[in-house]
Amino acid sequence: MSARLLLGLLAALVVGGAAASTDIDWWENAALYQIYPRSFQDSDGDGVGDLKGITQRLSYLKEIGITATWLSPIFKSPMSDFGYDISDFKEIDEIFGTMADFDAMMVEAKALGLKIILDFVPNHSSDECEWFQKSVNREDGYDDFYVWHDGKLNAETGEREPPSNWVSVFGGSQWTWHETRQQYFLHQFQVKQPDLNFSNPMVREHMLDVLGFWLDRGVDGFRIDAVPHIYEHRNADGSYRDEPLSGWNSDPNSYDYLDHIYTKDQPETVELMYEWRDYLLKYQQEHGGPTRVLLAEAYSPVETLAAYFGNGTRLGTQLPMNFQLMYLSGYSTAREVVGSIDYWMETMWTQHQTANWVVGNHDTQRVANRMGAHKVDLLNVIVNALPGASVTYYGEEIGMSNVETECTEISCDDRDGERTPMQWAPVSNAGFSTGPSTWLPVSPDFERYNVQTERGVARSSLQVFKGLQQLKQSSAFLSFKKKNGFSYEAITEQVLQIVRTNNLNEEYRILVNMGNGIEIIDGLADKVFEYILVTAYSLHRPGEMIDLSRRLLLMPYEAIVLRWLA
Ligand code: NOJ
Ligand code: MG
Repeated sequence: MSARLLLGLLAALVVGGAAASTDIDWWENAALYQIYPRSFQDSDGDGVGDLKGITQRLSYLKEIGITATWLSPIFKSPMSDFGYDISDFKEIDEIFGTMADFDAMMVEAKALGLKIILDFVPNHSSDECEWFQKSVNREDGYDDFYVWHDGKLNAETGEREPPSNWVSVFGGSQWTWHETRQQYFLHQFQVKQPDLNFSNPMVREHMLDVLGFWLDRGVDGFRIDAVPHIYEHRNADGSYRDEPLSGWNSDPNSYDYLDHIYTKDQPETVELMYEWRDYLLKYQQEHGGPTRVLLAEAYSPVETLAAYFGNGTRLGTQLPMNFQLMYLSGYSTAREVVGSIDYWMETMWTQHQTANWVVGNHDTQRVANRMGAHKVDLLNVIVNALPGASVTYYGEEIGMSNVETECTEISCDDRDGERTPMQWAPVSNAGFSTGPSTWLPVSPDFERYNVQTERGVARSSLQVFKGLQQLKQSSAFLSFKKKNGFSYEAITEQVLQIVRTNNLNEEYRILVNMGNGIEIIDGLADKVFEYILVTAYSLHRPGEMIDLSRRLLLMPYEAIVLRWLA
């Protein structure tokens, strides 16, 4: 018997279900959790989170049922974009600790059975990276390491102008003149984040080397940053074409001013995903261990993301991140939620792929602000009840909200509000730091929303979240590759129902009332179910029975999980 088969059988025994699928790899049903390292746990009192802090808190991730955590960048960086501007891809930034701290974190993670995924930022480096300095000075081999151009001469004024009208994601021209090299360089993001030139094979080599370096240190995969921006279209004569106007934004300095046909989602990107997956596959063949995963960050249409999966002959990224549910608002009805799920699921079914559902991240308002505090649990229920991998941003499991922040010397970013310190306990600095101050303010709500307090409250967001993770491991939840084990529908305008079953002896009905009215549902099924999990707005208790052939009442914003066992 092969080791894989044996493991599969063991897994089936553990979950205790007769029909539990054995064909599920670890990432396919994973509860993923994003840590923003500056804000998770500070171990040395400087007010900024660090690796030792993360290591201390890994047992918490285990407690709440997390499979793997992905860390936003921890590499050497001037921190102009808090680590998304890397000056040494193979060094830990001292604000986060040392390489020894990293190794210690890996040891602890392995001991706990947690997987670690790192942020991989291939599109750009910091302008303080050695590679950029070498490129500025046209050092041998580094001349074309970044995207350089002389610019155009304006026929009327005789002045030099940028090579094209391209606008950066953060606003302003994508081209900045470099005095030393006397050329423009391209940056899709900040001026301090020059884009690497991926049509240069040496750049691709360097990036594979970065992947190899961290794989050797034991990581289980990578979240790839800014995938759609990696390539830009260049004409055969080396010039760059202007992008057409989008027509819906009139500010020439705004990213939305243009339709990004030459700077986003270029066809070469897909090949690159396959190249990186090949590298990971080869690594696994040579070194063994679990499947290494790739999560791709791409705000692109589902058809584009579908291409990342593979093309029939070659494999690509397993988890192109699905941000659809992040576009829901406080007004979204159950029918609209179904629309968002459909948009993604239809492609998953036709391509036989595993879905993933992202709750939020460090670039987006928290759920409490996007949808309302009373909907945090609802979204947590939905993403964990759906088949595939769920991706939770730290703090969403306790219902953290955005904090109103002011510019300081340390940070002045419009995304600061969703990056505030994790709330651990009703003590000074919410238990995040013992120092006199923290890099961003701790939420004024921390005494109500924190891990320690919520551990002791039966229907807190944290307890609901933990209950959901247990469910995710039950046999009915593991048979998601079969279409007949899973369905979802809006049974009224405001009530979403998700059904999970092993088609044998176990069936779950997950019911979510997105609306602010009481919902009355008659004759939903001809079986008697048990309340397994309830949220704060429910009038019921776990263990109560309900005959679904009769009447079911759902309170405003109530979510419940019901189970039928043969
Ligand atoms: C996406 C990251 O999530 C964001 O925080 C960053 O600013 C950009 N990529 C640039 O790296
Ligand atoms: Mg690029």
